[in-house]
Amino acid sequence: MSIEAGKHRPPEHTGQVLVLRDVVRVHGSGDAEVRALDGLTISIAAGEFVAVMGPSGSGKSTLLHLAGGLDTPTSGTVRVEGTDVGALSVSGRAALRRRHIGYVFQDFNLIPTLTAAENVALPRELDGTGRKAARTEAMAALAELEVQDLADRFPDEMSGGQQQRTAIARAIIGKRRLLLADEPTGALDSHTGEAVLEVLRGRADAGSAVVLVTHDARFAAWADRVIFLRDGTVIDTAGVDSAEELLAHSR
Ligand SMILES: Nc1ncnc2c1ncn2[C@@H]1O[C@H](COP(=O)(O)OP(=O)(O)OP(=O)(O)O)[C@@H](O)[C@H]1O
Ligand SMILES: [Mg+2]
Repeated sequence: MSIEAGKHRPPEHTGQVLVLRDVVRVHGSGDAEVRALDGLTISIAAGEFVAVMGPSGSGKSTLLHLAGGLDTPTSGTVRVEGTDVGALSVSGRAALRRRHIGYVFQDFNLIPTLTAAENVALPRELDGTGRKAARTEAMAALAELEVQDLADRFPDEMSGGQQQRTAIARAIIGKRRLLLADEPTGALDSHTGEAVLEVLRGRADAGSAVVLVTHDARFAAWADRVIFLRDGTVIDTAGVDSAEELLAHSR
């Protein structure tokens, strides 16, 4: 299989949104030292949808944390829209996240004291959008994920799959240039999972860079390109032609 990046990419979107260069992330020290990422170099362009696959502990979430400005590398550089994330202050990173990055966490991270609509509207309100306009945008995002009827429920009044869709609505609200999704289909049946992939694919086609961590080759098949990680490094990268080929490739 050939490396075939961004086959769905509109020609007007050619900039690199996310660039990691020689990134190392070491957790702990001495005997407890873990090299979660061990010299990772990747770049992802506007309009490109990339799936990240690899065994548990291979560094997928660590990669997303770094790309999302939630963590900084031990060495190497992470650039989002040309900005060196590691060189930003804590508040600078927070501003970058709010404005440019949508993040779906592996464990949803919804705020338990806010309703679904309030959770989704929050990043827009923090960004200075008025309350009413933010609510309108939140309802539209919830509708895209087919959970608008649950807008006034609190997270503990929703199923895992409903919470997951709410978390995805929160990530896609606003015009984020970089969408990072860590197993966003884990709690979803396959029909709903496909619907979520359609939403992410749509955001990439509209010009965002999208990074999806998944264990499921059927979902990875929606991507332009798949990066396979093992022990914190890229072991392979491939264009996606079909789920069957992808499955054969990842064995
Ligand atoms: N905060 C931390 N402190 C110590 N070690 C960590 C920390 N975060 C991650 N690690 C270690 O780094 C390695 C990579 O972890 P990471 O969570 O990125 O893997 P993953 O590919 O997302 O796995 P999974 O598929 O289970 O979610 C693992 O060995 C993990 O134990
Ligand atoms: Mg993980």
